[in-house]
Amino acid sequence: MTIADFDFSGRSALITGAASGIGAACARWLDRRGIARLILVDRDEAALGKLELDSEVRRIFGDVTDPTVGERIAAQAGAIDHAIVNAGIASGGTIADLNFAEWRRTMSINLDGALLSLQSAIALIRQRGAGGSIVLTASISGTKAEPGTAAYGASKAGVLQLARVAAKELAAERIRVNAIAPGGVDTPIWDDQPFFADMVAQHGGDRAAAIAALAGMATPLGRYATPDEIAGQIGFLLSDMAASITGTVLVSDGGYSL
Ligand code: NAI
Repeated sequence: MTIADFDFSGRSALITGAASGIGAACARWLDRRGIARLILVDRDEAALGKLELDSEVRRIFGDVTDPTVGERIAAQAGAIDHAIVNAGIASGGTIADLNFAEWRRTMSINLDGALLSLQSAIALIRQRGAGGSIVLTASISGTKAEPGTAAYGASKAGVLQLARVAAKELAAERIRVNAIAPGGVDTPIWDDQPFFADMVAQHGGDRAAAIAALAGMATPLGRYATPDEIAGQIGFLLSDMAASITGTVLVSDGGYSL
């Protein structure tokens, strides 16, 4: 497939969590394919400000759990064709020891935030009145049980079901909704996880070696995805090439779930 197969010219898209990792890669991917307008949402104002893109960009700084961010999106974004509901955090801890505040924080950002962003996206796509497409970033942790992933995995299982129900609710309006379930992706999301900091230390401070070791443990392909690879897969789901696909979960995990 060539770039021409993914022509987004004249279109506009909302991306949450756009300042880093997968969200930033999606912004660059759509930008390279001629998208006219991007509405980028993130709480990291400095990083979002640094993203250099050719298309018209509106940056909305704020926390996706804050309903007033939705009001600002509604006021500033205008009609859109596509949305990537992507902002999220990692968290860990076994159920017996899980701190309730950490559970709530994870649910709040990963699931409540996804709901609020999805609601914003639906309203803006309806403004256009010409159908559209949405991708939610879930995780393979939403389907595969692993010790220590209860809060994160439950939040992402919720995201997967949110995508499926939305797909059925919106199909009559030609609004497609899909989810992507990545396994490991090499992004900064790992960096504030204590176990990962330990792994980096064990590898003499070599972060890339720690990522490679992590990928070698349980991913048959033996590597983590890059943010650009995930962006291309999300881009496919958003694009007209996927016009017959709705309510699906694209697993992109290097075989981790096999
Ligand atoms: P990242 O940490 O590089 O990027 C996440 C972005 O979301 C950051 O810019 C951050 O500021 C923003 N964000 C976080 N909480 C926010 C909030 N409350 N309000 C507004 N912005 C907020 O991480 P990455 O990897 O790009 O993560 C993107 C999505 O992909 C997340 O939903 C994550 O759970 C999911 N994912 C990531 C995987 C990985 O291995 N990196 C694997 C599976 C899913």
